[in-house]
Amino acid sequence: MTNLRDDPVGAATRAEERPVITLRGVKKYFPVREGVLQQIVGHVRAVDGVSFEIRQGQTLGLVGESGCGKTTLGRCIAGLTDTTGGGIYFRLSEADRMFLDEMDAVGQDRQTSEQQAKVESIERAHRIDRLKGETWRTYRRNCQFVFQDAFSSLNPRHLVKDIVGRPLRVYKEASGTDLTERVVELLESVGLGRQHLYRYPHQFSGGQRQRISIARALALDPEFIVLDEPTSALDVSVQSQILNLLHKLQQDRGLTYLFITHDLGVVRLMSDEIVVMYVGEVMERAGAQELFASPRHPYTEALLAANPDLLEGDEEAEMRGLEGTVPDPARPPRGCKFHTRCPVATPRCGWEVDDAVAWLSDNSTILEGLGGVERSSDFESVLRFAEPGTAAEAESLLASAAIPDAMRAALVELDQDGPELRIRFEEVDRVRLEDVDVGHMTSCILHTSQADLDSRP
Ligand SMILES: Nc1ncnc2c1ncn2[C@@H]1O[C@H](COP(=O)(O)OP(=O)(O)O)[C@@H](O)[C@H]1O
Ligand code: SF4
Ligand SMILES: [Mg+2]
Repeated sequence: MTNLRDDPVGAATRAEERPVITLRGVKKYFPVREGVLQQIVGHVRAVDGVSFEIRQGQTLGLVGESGCGKTTLGRCIAGLTDTTGGGIYFRLSEADRMFLDEMDAVGQDRQTSEQQAKVESIERAHRIDRLKGETWRTYRRNCQFVFQDAFSSLNPRHLVKDIVGRPLRVYKEASGTDLTERVVELLESVGLGRQHLYRYPHQFSGGQRQRISIARALALDPEFIVLDEPTSALDVSVQSQILNLLHKLQQDRGLTYLFITHDLGVVRLMSDEIVVMYVGEVMERAGAQELFASPRHPYTEALLAANPDLLEGDEEAEMRGLEGTVPDPARPPRGCKFHTRCPVATPRCGWEVDDAVAWLSDNSTILEGLGGVERSSDFESVLRFAEPGTAAEAESLLASAAIPDAMRAALVELDQDGPELRIRFEEVDRVRLEDVDVGHMTSCILHTSQADLDSRP
């Protein structure tokens, strides 16, 4: 069995379903504070401009290594945390989204007053941070969250009856024996029963606790559930029981899921569509079958290379694995964020001074003689050494065949003057996500028009 979905639909048919959640350029930055005064010295860009939509009755799988911003994005979508920029919309029609995109392109200053009024009314009706009163309650009821760690998300001092019944009480949906009967129905729908009502979370196994979390999420009969690594903490056999349960509940209730996981096998089993995320950005987005059959982004390929049993056809032969670690989102790489680890990076992928410094530090002891760095931009700096000889040595290292070809080719200036070494890389823009096929987008210059568009004389 490769996919629990009966017929993982292609993007063309999927487009007929209405979007439940729409993201437009969503950002979430966390401030980095330092010193006794706790001054803000920078920002962790956990989510950095993410756009996609999740359609009714579908499962969108969100995959990427740990630290790529998946949980943060899921929390933003569920309204558990605010966003720094962009917008998250509930039940935004395709026509309204296109209108908002069009108005963004026009710019607020050049919109007519009717256009501005229409933007305002769409935002008030659909944008989750603008919802009030009944529309906010409707969204909150309809958007639920299941956490990876069921143990810490269930209050250890509360009985199962109270945990699962709480949303019904808060929303005044039920009380007394009616409430108890509703909780029993919910427990039965997740494979538990009346005998579990008066027990505490610690009296259950990991799989059962996740069932309790799912029952609680279902209490208000929501339309949409964010599932954040719901089976990652479970044994493989229990994991497949929970995945089957989630699949059945989706079929019975027409649920829409955002399924977050770092596990490609699980995401393949569960998803209609997959979004691959890296350091806060979308690297690739495609229908589940399409993504596994013809991945385009080298990051997706590298993730797949680690799971060769998931590959189709002869993709495996061409795949290269993933080395190194996820970069610090407080100082993400320029250009394409994957360039520091990409096995096929080109000179136009965003090489910068930090890459040269990191390479010198990993491959020589030369930086021990470094006195200071005078930075004009991420792409241009003067390295000041104690001795002219060390600057000359650094220059010859950076010009040598030892450094990666793509990085060397991106160096447009390498100039030693006494103890100073000026380095300047070709400056490039951020790589954008572009269509490469129907319903298939990627953010890699090897597959999009950006390498040509951005090239400078
Ligand atoms: N509350 C927070 N404050 C500061 N940084 C955070 C916070 N939450 C998450 N981060 C950082 O944001 C990045 C993305 O984290 P997360 O969303 O948990 O990724 P994932 O779920 O993909 O593992 C990480 O670098 C993490 O350290
Ligand atoms: S743009 Fe493409 S080739 Fe360049 S670093 Fe990114 S993934 Fe690799
Ligand atoms: Mg996470």
